[in-house]
Amino acid sequence: MEEQCPVVIDRTGRDIHQENSRLRALGPIARVELPGGMPAWSVTGYEAVRQALADPRLSKDARRHWTAFAAGAVGPDFPLLSWALMDNLATAHGEDHARLRRLVMRGFSGGRVEAMRPSIERIVDRLLDELAGLAAGAVVDIRTSFAQPLVTEVVCELIGVPAGFRDEMLRGGEVNVTTTITPEEAAANVARWRGAMQDFVEAKRRLPGDDLTTDLIAAQEADGARLTDAEIINTLHFLRAAGTVPTMNLLGNTVFALLTRPDQRELVLTGQVTWDDVIEESLRAEAPVAHLPFRFPVDDVEICGVAMRKGEPVLINYAAAGRDPELHGQDAGRFDVTRQSKENLAFGHGIHRCVGVALARLEVRIALSSLFARFPDLRLGVPAEQVEPQESFIMNGRQAVPVLLRPSAG
Ligand code: HEM
Repeated sequence: MEEQCPVVIDRTGRDIHQENSRLRALGPIARVELPGGMPAWSVTGYEAVRQALADPRLSKDARRHWTAFAAGAVGPDFPLLSWALMDNLATAHGEDHARLRRLVMRGFSGGRVEAMRPSIERIVDRLLDELAGLAAGAVVDIRTSFAQPLVTEVVCELIGVPAGFRDEMLRGGEVNVTTTITPEEAAANVARWRGAMQDFVEAKRRLPGDDLTTDLIAAQEADGARLTDAEIINTLHFLRAAGTVPTMNLLGNTVFALLTRPDQRELVLTGQVTWDDVIEESLRAEAPVAHLPFRFPVDDVEICGVAMRKGEPVLINYAAAGRDPELHGQDAGRFDVTRQSKENLAFGHGIHRCVGVALARLEVRIALSSLFARFPDLRLGVPAEQVEPQESFIMNGRQAVPVLLRPSAG
């Protein structure tokens, strides 16, 4: 195959959809250059993404399967290093992955998610009460004043973090999705969080609860040799980030989509479509996890006619896949809640498919329906073009979504 000139990925994530159109024009899998000058592949076509995610020859374990890293050719200043070297179930491969995933899945089973419904409703109601207490005419950022506290509290409930420890939970993980911070900042952030998490796990061991952390500790005690403290902490660290930022994005993106398209909002508020239709269309058109590093072929592979060599970094472009015109037609970029097929891969596919699907859907369904019921006059608080994208090409969200909850009396 002829060598393509790589598309340089914009690390600020200014316009990921426009960038994806350029990538798509190069075929279902395109050569890209990542920040730091790193060559890689971006899988953009829906079918190619589906095949790549189902292909056991694509590993997520950088230490074992990234040729350039093994050869010492990746410097410590490579801006996405912390994504490659995370050490948790999302980067584990083969039997290691299966073992960690089994344990985490146990924490999501047995009706735990459905059992969280009353507490999610309580958190949503409390946050909306706080917003309702603001003066008419006040403009608030729905992301920081509603979405963020909601998703953080829910993940804290899931893993059993007591109220007094939640601020510390907020500090770790989140800033690392920003692709403009330095590797030192990212590392310092993780280090601070790890110390706090070690204290948390020890406290939980002394005082168990009905939560996912207690399940992980119980699994460790049942079979100590197979689950280390570090693995528990890495898993919690990952859950904390994976369980919050994408969910917050889904909520913020959907509010923004409805407030900028009154016809679509009308359809759901008059019951012509369901909140699930709206959420699905949002996942398709605005995948909250946009462009995820990394996978590495363990052998030379060919997917949808594109040959990738063993050990080359591959990114999965969920945002592009959801808007693939081959599947969704020429208007794939249009947000349309009445669309027949809203098929998307926003939660992934195959063995690494998101474990939090049910929880994320539940949270966002409760949050959106309650928000629009409580504030029927909800409007965008600034012109739509002033709503800036999150500084990331990995995640797809807005920095802030300012809204006017109720018009002022005058
Ligand atoms: C709208 C919200 C969410 C979206 C769009 C989302 C998206 C994703 C995606 C695309 C993956 C697959 C990554 C891959 O292919 O390698 C993934 C994996 C994962 N997600 Fe989510 N996620 C969301 C919410 C959550 C929540 C609420 C949790 C937990 C509280 C969670 C926990 C995880 C975990 C643990 C994995 C790793 C699974 C594995 O590697 O086996 N996610 N998520």
